[in-house]
Amino acid sequence: MKIRAVVRGVGHYLPERVVENAEFEATLDTTDDWIRARTGIERRHFAAEGETTSQLAIKAAQAALIDAGMAADQIDAIVVATSTPDLTFPSVATMVQAGLGTTSGFAYDIQAVCAGFVFALTNANGLIVSGQAERVLVIGAETFSRIMDWEDRGTCVLFGDGAGALILEAANGSGTNEDRGVLSTDLHSDGRYRELLFVDGGVSSNGKAGHLRMQGNAVFKHAVQKLAETAHTALGKIGMSGEDVNWIVPHQANLRIISATAERMQVPMERVVVTVQDHGNTSAASIPLALSVGKQRGQIKTGDIVVTEAIGGGLAWGAVVLRW
Ligand code: UT7
Repeated sequence: MKIRAVVRGVGHYLPERVVENAEFEATLDTTDDWIRARTGIERRHFAAEGETTSQLAIKAAQAALIDAGMAADQIDAIVVATSTPDLTFPSVATMVQAGLGTTSGFAYDIQAVCAGFVFALTNANGLIVSGQAERVLVIGAETFSRIMDWEDRGTCVLFGDGAGALILEAANGSGTNEDRGVLSTDLHSDGRYRELLFVDGGVSSNGKAGHLRMQGNAVFKHAVQKLAETAHTALGKIGMSGEDVNWIVPHQANLRIISATAERMQVPMERVVVTVQDHGNTSAASIPLALSVGKQRGQIKTGDIVVTEAIGGGLAWGAVVLRW
């Protein structure tokens, strides 16, 4: 017998405003063709003025609760992955707790940038397996449009806003790969690479929110190598390989990274959930958004083996294998 963290519900929310690639042509030396060809992105959503990360997170959480058929007060813990919180503190997670109208359990944020959801999911699994919580709401929510330098064509066309949420519940498993729930996790970070992807502002440095700065090409090379490696490691820990995977649900940063990783894992693109064309890179929100859309599309079904993998600022990266 082994306690497993099983997915009971999933949901997402995207802000109303959709921005097509062509809109950037008016203000930047860029084209729809370049953005599509180099990234796979066609459009993204941007939060409205005054619309905050916690508001997106609450809507995604409500959708996940409906999907799970649960009430907010059944949740023991809320873990939010974000790098774009409403305020320096309190956490977005506590704002979600209040927004859902519950005082049960505990709530906190995790910050691992684009890898945030993989870190939060691993953390939530730990809460359940160690008996500290029975039902955990795990959210990835971001408003990266707030930290864009609108004059930097190398970054501002890449990112979007949104939120996705997953509800995990403790269940008794047999301890084999036949169990539903989280089966394996693998996390890494290497702080020597902070200059490759960072925000040039913060509370204890200059007191500003700052703008995202990225050496895209260098991050690209790390991504292609490290994502396949961590996915292989996570699968290998439970004696699985690419062949056993029904769906890769990758961090949605760049279609070329997504397909190169799938190729290295020897998984055909027909078994990869791709949403980057419609969402852009929504950082910690991209995987739960893709899980929710993948389920809505009828791609991800109960019993499927799903591998999520992500890399982002830090660098921080990792993978989670679960049976849906
Ligand atoms: O989520 C966190 C992880 N982040 C990522 O995974 C992002 C990883 N990186 C990437 O996705 C890609 O590196 C980018 C999409 C950011 C850039 O693509 P690239 O193929 O690596 O291009 P590059 O940075 O090597 O730039 C090639 C050229 C440059 O021009 P020159 O120097 O060759 O004249 C850029 O200035 O493309 C230019 N360029 C653009 N041109 C038109 C950069 N951005 C744009 C743009 N429109 N928006």
